Amino acid sequence: MMIAFANDCPKNADVLVFAIAKDALDEAELAIEQADLVLSAAKTARFEGKPGEVFETFVEESGTVKRVILAGIGKGKRLNVESAGGSMVAKILTSGAKHLAIHQSGMDQWQLARFVFGAKLRSWRIDKYRTTMPEKQKPTLEAITVLDQNLETAKEWQDLNAVSEGVALTRELVAEPANVIYPESFVARCEELKDLGVEFQVLDQEEMEKLGMGALLGVSQGSVKPPRMLAMRWDGTNGSQKRPLALVGKGVTFDTGGISLKPGPGMGDMKFDMGGAGAVAGTMKALAGRKANVHVVGVCGLVENMPDGNAQRPGDVVTSMSGQTIEVLNTDAEGRLVLSDALHWTQEEFDPEVVINLATLTGAIIISLGDQHAGCFCNDDDLAEDLLEAGKKSGDPLWRFPLNAAYDKQINSPIADMQNIGGKGAGSITAAQFLQRFIKDGVKWSHLDIAGMVWADKPGPLWDKGATGYGVRLLNQYITDNFEK
Ligand code: BES
Ligand code: MN
Ligand code: ZN
Repeated sequence: MMIAFANDCPKNADVLVFAIAKDALDEAELAIEQADLVLSAAKTARFEGKPGEVFETFVEESGTVKRVILAGIGKGKRLNVESAGGSMVAKILTSGAKHLAIHQSGMDQWQLARFVFGAKLRSWRIDKYRTTMPEKQKPTLEAITVLDQNLETAKEWQDLNAVSEGVALTRELVAEPANVIYPESFVARCEELKDLGVEFQVLDQEEMEKLGMGALLGVSQGSVKPPRMLAMRWDGTNGSQKRPLALVGKGVTFDTGGISLKPGPGMGDMKFDMGGAGAVAGTMKALAGRKANVHVVGVCGLVENMPDGNAQRPGDVVTSMSGQTIEVLNTDAEGRLVLSDALHWTQEEFDPEVVINLATLTGAIIISLGDQHAGCFCNDDDLAEDLLEAGKKSGDPLWRFPLNAAYDKQINSPIADMQNIGGKGAGSITAAQFLQRFIKDGVKWSHLDIAGMVWADKPGPLWDKGATGYGVRLLNQYITDNFEK
């Protein structure tokens, strides 16, 4: 989507958009010839200006027909304004209209930036594999002009634009199929971040063998695609933040379950099992794009989990880089195996003060929370509070779950230091307990189980069906509020 800024409405704009606050129709001023007609039509149609409400009509303007959109922004709060921009653009995207002009109407510059942010997020789609899409289903909207020239260079917009670019990268990585995005090609897609000043470190299989990453390599050994560990570092603090924040993502580019094979129906969904790593990459792009004042490393543990003559077997015992041994009772509980080595290596290599890992780790979290919250597990109450707060503010919500010694006991193994599955209940918690065994004393850590959040079966206010980009707005908010103050 082309987004441009101008003070005057371009002649060729065929849609004119006005934001309307809740119950503000009577005071609204629309800079069009037939303003009164439009306002009374909206009233007749019972438009109230509620967030996400969209009224559409056609008028004659300077002798031509224009589409006019009134977009409700409720009381004008941040998430309302964002979703108003999103709902507005969803209505226009495939409508036949090509060029939309957003009037500032009642919004201040901060709200206008949010409105455009919502519109940009909602207009993202992946059509590259659709060669026979019927003409009528194709998106027609090509350009958005925002009628405030000053906004283009304003920090509000620059920052949000960087976040939207990060979300777009996450969505792209998640939406691409597993024959296109596998460990090596995931790294290649991220390489554009180097241009933004992000430093790269990539471990190949041989280096991981030398480091003793037996847990991660055990998952990978059934695949012909070699694994990768990708670390991206952004330091916007000029060296003043000594210990970085670490973000660690599960990047299983496809999860068949391995020898503990998943059932066929729905298995295709498991291309999104790299959603944690995707969120880490997108967040790094957002942070570097807006030159965030933070020192952060983003680590992605990248493997494919396949059944094969060389695949690991249920019952195999592997030795992780930490030295702890693991009995692999279920090869489908592979995310924790990948993360155990990624987490340990991250702490050894970067000495982070805070570690946040993101993973599509368990189906059980979807049973608990559906698609409304990601699960948050944390060894530190303040960190949990900060993350939950960032979740509420950003629109990427979290819900906290408990950790304790009784849950931890469930993953003791009769033959090794631990086993990779617990008992019948609390599957998301025993998975988190497993990860916690790889966190060093004194490190503040949170695990976010995002299995229910990375993919949407229905369109939402800021995304179409498919990849949501969950996690980027959350982490960006958490960093803004806790590292950049
Ligand atoms: N990637 C899956 C979790 C998942 C399932 C994410 C459905 C999104 C949708 C993970 O690797 C997995 O298979 N977990 C198992 C763990 C079990 C074997 C203990 C699960 O949740 O069934
Ligand atoms: Mn699995
Ligand atoms: Zn998985």
